[in-house]
Amino acid sequence: MHTLQHPRSVERLVAGRATSDGAGVKLVRVLTQELQRRLDPFLMLDAFGSDSRDDYIGGFPDHPHRGFETVTYMLEGRMRHRDSAGNEGLLTGGAVQWMTAGRGVIHSEMPEQDDGRMEGFQLWLNLPARDKMCPPWYRDIPPADVPEARAEGVTVRVIAGQALGVPGAMQREATAPTYLDLHLQAGARFVQELPDDHNAFVYVYRGEAAVGEVAVPRQRMAILANTPGADGVSLTAGPEGARAILVAGRPLREPIAQYGPFVMNTQEEIYRAVEDFRAGRLA
Ligand code: CO
Repeated sequence: MHTLQHPRSVERLVAGRATSDGAGVKLVRVLTQELQRRLDPFLMLDAFGSDSRDDYIGGFPDHPHRGFETVTYMLEGRMRHRDSAGNEGLLTGGAVQWMTAGRGVIHSEMPEQDDGRMEGFQLWLNLPARDKMCPPWYRDIPPADVPEARAEGVTVRVIAGQALGVPGAMQREATAPTYLDLHLQAGARFVQELPDDHNAFVYVYRGEAAVGEVAVPRQRMAILANTPGADGVSLTAGPEGARAILVAGRPLREPIAQYGPFVMNTQEEIYRAVEDFRAGRLA
């Protein structure tokens, strides 16, 4: 494992905001709209996790998207996806769905279980202006196809980018996203090199981890500082071990205009998206 000369520090810890979306699915919006500029190219991160069916059973019935990508990562539970392009897939624990909405798609994400735990994340990754109207695309990545990297006390599920020399399931040229699910045993340390201009955060979802000297408790996002010359991030698990996602990407530095499920560059493009949706041109 590499040693860092200038590890990143924690700029701030964020608790997220409890809310609901879809047909009453309870979730925590960790990356909210106010953080879109700071964490460019990432637009949103929702964390959902409940043992109670009432918190998730409504699911996310048909709704549109345009202008960005959605990345759904299931930790536990079963969720079925259907979209207007005719794609359909079942997401189970450990699976990833990467969907490029591009010029538009209408889809549903519905639980396929009546009880038990449902847990996971949905991350929104922006597209550069030139790709916002590209044809929609999607890929279901079953649990066994998510590459894993290992070091002492550390297992990394490499969703995007690379870790410990292992290429992830997905690569994206414009935003060069890194998306890692880290499983750390008690006291284990993990180091990831990152370019200093990539915006990056860690979200701890089990146990506790330290980034440098700063303790990051469970259900907190640590935004990592972009100090010039910083060469990466170092995480150390607390005495109970830790599980966390590490997300980083190259900022697009383009204007962001969002109205609900549409994310474009200008207000005019948003009006057009709404019109196209109403006229049935997204299906
Ligand atoms: Co959606």
